[in-house]
Amino acid sequence: MTTNNKRKGIILAGGNGSRLYPLTKVISKQLLPVFDKPMIHYPLATLMTADIKDILVISTPKDISAYKALLGDGGLWGINISYKIQPSPDGLAQAFILAEDFIDNDLSALILGDNIFYGPDFSDVLRKASNNKEATIFAYHVDEAERYGVVEFADKKVVSIEEKPENPKSNFAITGLYFYDNEVIELAKSLKPSARGELEITDLNRIYMEKNKLNIEILNKNYAWFDSGTHESLLKASIYVGDFQKRYNLKISCIEEIAYKNSWISKNELLILAKKIHNKYYREYLEALID
Ligand code: DAU
Repeated sequence: MTTNNKRKGIILAGGNGSRLYPLTKVISKQLLPVFDKPMIHYPLATLMTADIKDILVISTPKDISAYKALLGDGGLWGINISYKIQPSPDGLAQAFILAEDFIDNDLSALILGDNIFYGPDFSDVLRKASNNKEATIFAYHVDEAERYGVVEFADKKVVSIEEKPENPKSNFAITGLYFYDNEVIELAKSLKPSARGELEITDLNRIYMEKNKLNIEILNKNYAWFDSGTHESLLKASIYVGDFQKRYNLKISCIEEIAYKNSWISKNELLILAKKIHNKYYREYLEALID
């Protein structure tokens, strides 16, 4: 089978949001606000910044229709969004089994729907990873590494990967953004559920590490990264976005802006889109991009 050079993106927006109860009793976590946008806009913006136009949103049987209502087919932003149900939260790596037909013969990228990234020259970092035909993970220095997948590395070579270890071998968390080749589908199928009954992304990454095909990009402190899955991190992410946007008079992860800057929509299409937005400030922000 020949693999194409095209890369498709998956946003995993399922799970039961138990850590955010009762916020998530009736609303899916990735629809909650992060300052001025629904949470899922941020990972969508990250994939678009990586130049990925074909995107699959995976969510629960209960919530998928809300994502369809929010994002539609993506045509407004010059992208293609399709949808898939994950019947139960059986692990992050299951995304590649669910997405088999969608990925087809292409390369893939997965982003977790609660992961928010922002930083300088991020598009260069993402495009570099996207052009690499092997796998790439992104690491970020954190205080409580035991809460995350943890990567140990030397000279930018991955030495070990562990999921939520009691005694982390480093302070670098593996963020929820992963780039893989086409083999990921078969490798995901070969995984066995972990002790907690999930197909673990960490087991998948370990296979790539053992094959010597796992690259690592370290996002330094000029970057912001939030896994907005707890009340505290959700609040921190909102404060960061609000403060930064006010200070620099710009919008973080504005999908209309990215679509326009990527030349996926024309000036005219942006203007038509802006006119339909009732929020004066959002509309004026988009109109100002043209001037
Ligand atoms: O955010 C980065 C971390 O994400 C990584 O460092 C860890 O290695 C990785 O396992 C993951 O850890 P979490 O504890 O955040 O995973 P969680 O089970 O909370 O799932 C992350 C998101 O994916 C969450 O928004 C719900 C969604 N999800 C989760 C599972 C297990 C699904 O949509 N389907 C699933 O089956």
